[in-house]
Amino acid sequence: MTDTPSLISPTPTTRSDDRFPAILGMMASGSGSNFEAVARSIDNGDLNAKIAVLIHNKPEIKAIERAHQRGIPTVFLDHRNYPTREELDRAIVTTFRAHQVECVVMAGWMRVITQVLIDAFGDRIINIHPSLLPSFPGIGAIEQALAAKVKITGCTVHLVSLEVDAGPILVQAAVPVLADDTAATLHARVQIQEHLILPQAIEMLASQLRLAQLRR
Ligand code: GAR
Repeated sequence: MTDTPSLISPTPTTRSDDRFPAILGMMASGSGSNFEAVARSIDNGDLNAKIAVLIHNKPEIKAIERAHQRGIPTVFLDHRNYPTREELDRAIVTTFRAHQVECVVMAGWMRVITQVLIDAFGDRIINIHPSLLPSFPGIGAIEQALAAKVKITGCTVHLVSLEVDAGPILVQAAVPVLADDTAATLHARVQIQEHLILPQAIEMLASQLRLAQLRR
């Protein structure tokens, strides 16, 4: 078995212009390993972008430490302080606008977003989900795959629409389910692929933005 991703979308083209790094606003609710993968891809030149800010909705998650180690500012927006999802999203939009964010990356963001975020950022919002969508949307995707006894699962990066885990697919990677897999072992292998395809998908979007800037 190999860890090489099985890309269902074509590999994005190599970047051609470094003048316009995409300004990313990232959102995380957990460990932030996908945040870290994006930051590493920027460091090694595979992704022409800059992470302006990380928004998190839970205190004391590892993602905060990862951001601070890189000097990236973090903003804590506790969803319990916002009576509606729309009010939380308004605070997210205000924060991202203050940091001149162009593309939003939901890197393990475990809240349902609303039209408020979509109105502000349109088709420049990316989400990563640990299944081959449209299979197993919503929470517990890994557990859903195990319960369904599928032989192959994987991960998906897609543009965000109002319907949860349903927007246009950018990149997917397949991961075999092994007979003795637990949720933890399967998720660990899915995450290896997530860390490859999330930066690739962001670069796909970022290169489109750069083209638009160059044409101006
Ligand atoms: C990732 O596996 C991501 O696909 C999943 O949360 C995990 C975050 O890991 N997202 C969802 O389930 C969204 N529906 P990380 O904090 O280590 O990046």
